[in-house]
Amino acid sequence: MQNKKIRLFSLLLSITLLTLTFTACGQASSTPAAEEPTEQTQEEAKPISRPDDGRTVVGVSMPDRFLERWNIDGAFLKAQFENDGCDVVLRYANNLIDTQIKDIREMISQGADLLVVTAVDGTALSSVLEDARSQGIKILAYDRLIMETDAVDYYVSFDNYKVGVLQANFIIAELGLKTAETSQTIEFVTGDPVDNNARYFYNGAMDTLKPYLDSGILTVPSGQSGFFETATAQWSPDIAQQRLQIILNSYYPRGTRLDAVLCANDSTALGATRALAADYSEKNHVIVTGQDGDIANIYNILNGTQSMTVYKQLKQESIVTVSLGKAIISGEMPEEDLISESGWDFDCSYNTEDYNNGNKVVPSYLLRPIAITAVNIEKELFETGYYQRNSGGLIYATK
Ligand code: BGC
Repeated sequence: MQNKKIRLFSLLLSITLLTLTFTACGQASSTPAAEEPTEQTQEEAKPISRPDDGRTVVGVSMPDRFLERWNIDGAFLKAQFENDGCDVVLRYANNLIDTQIKDIREMISQGADLLVVTAVDGTALSSVLEDARSQGIKILAYDRLIMETDAVDYYVSFDNYKVGVLQANFIIAELGLKTAETSQTIEFVTGDPVDNNARYFYNGAMDTLKPYLDSGILTVPSGQSGFFETATAQWSPDIAQQRLQIILNSYYPRGTRLDAVLCANDSTALGATRALAADYSEKNHVIVTGQDGDIANIYNILNGTQSMTVYKQLKQESIVTVSLGKAIISGEMPEEDLISESGWDFDCSYNTEDYNNGNKVVPSYLLRPIAITAVNIEKELFETGYYQRNSGGLIYATK
């Protein structure tokens, strides 16, 4: 009863304050001074105090610091929202669902107007996000779709299905599968099944390889080609490495050739290249795919141990997110017009069909990933300035 009163009070308070909001970042808004996070659970929480101090607060909840990209995404989002006059609460969840829920609760208690969330587990956030939504907070799914909730307003990502298509097309071209007369072999190291993207990457790759798998021109000696049996929990390089080592030791006796390993991203590709170095003794060059353009993998493409990666320019993703975020904080509901009016110098498409989260089709802004190989890496990544070498030859990402 007491809790109900508290929630009702919070709701009334948020509604009152929301009506005061007139807002994009930097303008006056209903957003209050931050409260210190408390030890209380959400059920016990006191009504959130949201004095009108003119701040606009954006909560950015990232999955982990282990992967290079989320550090870059977090930094870009923070800098750009701050540049627009917002206060940013940035948290990393250490790949733990409970930590991410706690992070989001803390953002709500600090007066967030907007949450930008990359879910550790796409299906685990319904309850906390519905709490946020009931207080008028807007919610953007960043890179990974948030599943099974009405609370998510928009989704910003790259075309995830296309990522898998690019990886598979690279393998088809490198192995000459269109004209091959003898069969070749492949193994699959796919992503974390609780990440909704993993299924899109998998489907894009599998749909593209299917004719060759069906005809037998491409075979999988381990027999493991299903989504779950090829999955890599938490996208862990170690788990990817161990699984491929077991496969190599079990299904590739001396004289058995492995032609390609389709890895869903760069962290799994790192594991795969280590497994090949440790436990594959044939002399052929094994094709290894990836995604992200992590520095270690850029070195591996240059030294030949990884064959390609799918590069996604993270700055584009944060630029779209910040424009969209500002618009929805101001009460707008952008559609395709966000793209036509933005003047961005990169491709972005508006999609209202393909990203169904189980409760609704979430309007999505999708960017274009590109395949990077030893042949185009200089032109696409270095000449564009996305990566540079310092005087000692060390490579670092710049944009
Ligand atoms: C992202 C990838 C990333 C992977 C592992 C996916 O959701 O789209 O870029 O490599 O998560 O963190």
